[in-house]
Amino acid sequence: MIAKDLGERKLVDKVFSVAKKAKEAMAELGEEKVVNATIGSLYDEKGKLVVLETAMDVYKNLPPEEIAGYASNFTGAPEYKESVKISLFGRDYKEFLSGHYYEVIATPGGTGAINNSVKNYLGYGDTLLLPKWLWSSYILMAKDRHGDCDFYTLFNEKKEFDIVDFKNRVEKLAEKQDNVVIVINDPCQNPTGYRLSIEEWKEVRKILVSASEKANIILILDVAYIDFDDRTFEEKREYLETFKNFPEKVLTIFTFSLSKSLTSYGMRVGAQIALSTSKNVIEEFYEANSYTCRSTWSNISRGGMAMFSQIMLDEEKTAKLEKEREFYRELIKERAEIFMKEAKECDLEILPYVSGFFLTIPTGEYTPKVEKLLEENHIYTVVLKEGIRIAVCSVTKKKITGLAKRIKDIYEKAKLEK
Ligand SMILES: Cc1ncc(COP(=O)(O)O)c(C=O)c1O
Repeated sequence: MIAKDLGERKLVDKVFSVAKKAKEAMAELGEEKVVNATIGSLYDEKGKLVVLETAMDVYKNLPPEEIAGYASNFTGAPEYKESVKISLFGRDYKEFLSGHYYEVIATPGGTGAINNSVKNYLGYGDTLLLPKWLWSSYILMAKDRHGDCDFYTLFNEKKEFDIVDFKNRVEKLAEKQDNVVIVINDPCQNPTGYRLSIEEWKEVRKILVSASEKANIILILDVAYIDFDDRTFEEKREYLETFKNFPEKVLTIFTFSLSKSLTSYGMRVGAQIALSTSKNVIEEFYEANSYTCRSTWSNISRGGMAMFSQIMLDEEKTAKLEKEREFYRELIKERAEIFMKEAKECDLEILPYVSGFFLTIPTGEYTPKVEKLLEENHIYTVVLKEGIRIAVCSVTKKKITGLAKRIKDIYEKAKLEK
């Protein structure tokens, strides 16, 4: 009965189905015997979901009407918008962004932010440019615009960002579309943990500038995991410089999420932050995206926004939050280091990981066999098209230890199977 022009609309979410299998295995065999590397949320060493104290203390002390009420504005509370800018660009953001125009729109999570951006900028039936290794929800968003997807390879054979392939694909789309919409998930790329170097960003920048002579370029910069990036403030600033002083035909939309930053996944709070050198582009962004907020979700969680604002607008609370987060950032790093060291020892290939919640093992054509064998060995991962994703954000150090070798053995076995 659904509208014919929508085509088939069947959501196959492998993450949730494999996670379910992992849970069932745990119930049957006991917790210790099962590795559930599917969970994309932060878990502690006791196997419990991490809930940041700073965030919860503030939330629990909000007046009830601050939780139950509608937001003061469809596009987000003013204090929230201020907090998002501070969080992304620093307390001196006005100075840092001087000469630029910018607007913030509050959205339900990073998903809402990316969806709003795709909805407003991808031409109907056009192609969205995505990384080959990716968070698959982007594809659904393109389909909602009856669009196609093209995929940049992400890595070349030297395991660096494949700038040549990226350039070719951007240029090809710029030849045929008015708008070229590109998603780059950086830093802490899901599923690889990759982060482009400053030099790689400089090259990307040149490509976008050059392509903007032919088409409008909309860069959706998915920064959902930015608070788990381990660079210093100065290093992050250098990265953010990349997006300043673009020609008017290049628009950057940062898509931000509190799901990971505050470990508040269910609160559904995020934002689009648009940055441009053109006043008109930003005014149009604000108008168009306000419209889609109103038509899609109206407004977002008042309490969630208040929680973030009360932390970000209070330097003491911000420091406490950062300290708490630092602890878990280190924990993820330790887990990833154990895995990477052991992978090296047993010669298991990993895609270039720098930081973040996930790392990926490329298993190519053997992926379905690897999946089957992993499950037989009670190891549950997120199975990608040509690889498997390990969630270092949720697997304890104890369970990570020895995992690389187990996977290597399984991979070798899969290669031998007919
Ligand atoms: C790469 C990436 N972007 C965006 C999101 C959006 O998350 P949320 O909608 O919970 O903010 C996720 C969630 O897993 C993600 O992995």
